[in-house]
Amino acid sequence: GMKQRLLVVANRLPVSANRRGEDQWSLEISAGGLVSALLGVKDVDAKWIGWAGVNVPDEVGQRALTRALAEKRCIPVFLDEEIVHQYYNGYCNNILWPLFHYLGLPQEDRLATTRNFESQFDAYKRANQMFADVVYQHYQEGDVIWCHDYHLMFLPKCLKDHDSNMKVGWFLHTPFPSSEIYRTLPSRLELLRSVLCADLVGFHTYDYARHFVSACTRILGLEGTPEGVEDQGRLTRVAAFPIGIDSDRFKRALELPAVKRHISELTQRFAGRKVMLGVDRLDMIKGIPQKILAFEKFLEENPDWNDKVVLLQIAVPTRTDVPEYQKLTSQVHEIVGRINGRFGTLTAVPIHHLDRSLDFHALCALYAVTDVALVTSLRDGMNLVSYEYVACQGSKKGVLILSEFAGAAQSLGAGAILVNPWNITEVADSVRHALTMSSDEREKRHRHNYAHVTTHTAQDWAENFVCELNDTVAEAQLRT
Ligand code: UDP
Ligand code: G6P
Repeated sequence: GMKQRLLVVANRLPVSANRRGEDQWSLEISAGGLVSALLGVKDVDAKWIGWAGVNVPDEVGQRALTRALAEKRCIPVFLDEEIVHQYYNGYCNNILWPLFHYLGLPQEDRLATTRNFESQFDAYKRANQMFADVVYQHYQEGDVIWCHDYHLMFLPKCLKDHDSNMKVGWFLHTPFPSSEIYRTLPSRLELLRSVLCADLVGFHTYDYARHFVSACTRILGLEGTPEGVEDQGRLTRVAAFPIGIDSDRFKRALELPAVKRHISELTQRFAGRKVMLGVDRLDMIKGIPQKILAFEKFLEENPDWNDKVVLLQIAVPTRTDVPEYQKLTSQVHEIVGRINGRFGTLTAVPIHHLDRSLDFHALCALYAVTDVALVTSLRDGMNLVSYEYVACQGSKKGVLILSEFAGAAQSLGAGAILVNPWNITEVADSVRHALTMSSDEREKRHRHNYAHVTTHTAQDWAENFVCELNDTVAEAQLRT
């Protein structure tokens, strides 16, 4: 039959654009979890709507970029610098992101924050309306519109106000915090009411879904049911859809000559030492300072391991216009410098810290050759890095140390060593446990993790969500 048409709306497009001339653009596929998830969905005709991450003030440039993106099934939303500043740097990344990860609302310069709040929220709503306008232009009856993440919480309302027959789903890739945290947000009512305009609302874990339902019952006084949230007979379906990865893509990569070359280079470079790996965007939620301090404690307490182990931390620069992220960068550099000064020798330093991203092949090679992965998120919606590490460890069967505050802890709990990242002593002990673990125990733990990662794929995730959305809409039509 006809393929289901799907419009995926997310702040960031799956390709990033670089300008090469007045009407020349080069595009790079950005290989995030959501991207590989949706590329693999069968029987769906998907198009992406989102921001290309660049300011394009001129019409020539906009037209050329629109044409270039069309080949990748992408449709751009053009945001000017001022709106990016207020909506993306301000409301999304300085207010919603920290709040949803339990870091609270910004507290420095409290009064200025409170005053800016209104104008940032206005910009947020305006930006969401700009995404909605692009959706209207491309919408055809019967399309499924899947809105993603905290950037677009106002979008379901814009879409349903325009045409109440649109099938609208919204999925949050971050945690949804306890209602006690959420209710500090000045715009708490408007955002909840807008999200509830969607037909289906999805989260990575059952806990996040439950927190969302409690926020609706306590803050809006609505009724929570096992199915979702009810408002005067209208149901918004709420459910958990844990995301996965395309594990085959990683397994295939490990067979490529280029990746094998990387692997043998890395093996030589680190011969005689165990390697612990961290891969994170340089974000406060990732607990990078906590991770490094725990590693320092391990070195302190285990002098026999000095020179025999290295922590390789890939810290991908992110949201660099937001002051909190700039502060984190210098904080991390200071700690790394201090520890390398303290424990370094003439021939080696204990921490290799890189402020950069890696290409997919280099990343796969690192995942495959390292002995331990260390994920210490203070809060994290799911954390795909932990899944990707497991997918690449088929032969080595390395150990995953995983924060209990990452969504992934709920699925990899049996195989990983779960830790409270705030407890530096516990993490340091887990490092020793991981480095000295018997191969029997490593294999057993790996088997658990691998079974999960290879059977709960990104494709399944997307298919489940879209099916549930279609079913929810069909059921609602039967009721009326
Ligand atoms: N990643 C990447 N380039 C890098 C390092 C990581 O594209 O140099 C990818 C990684 O493969 C993973 C994603 O970034 O798919 C990070 O997802 P995760 O859920 O772990 O954390 P997020 O960054 O979404 O908070
Ligand atoms: C998290 C968010 C995504 C976001 C990504 C990278 O995974 O859930 O929505 O795209 O971080 O952040 P950025 O601000 O660069 O898009």
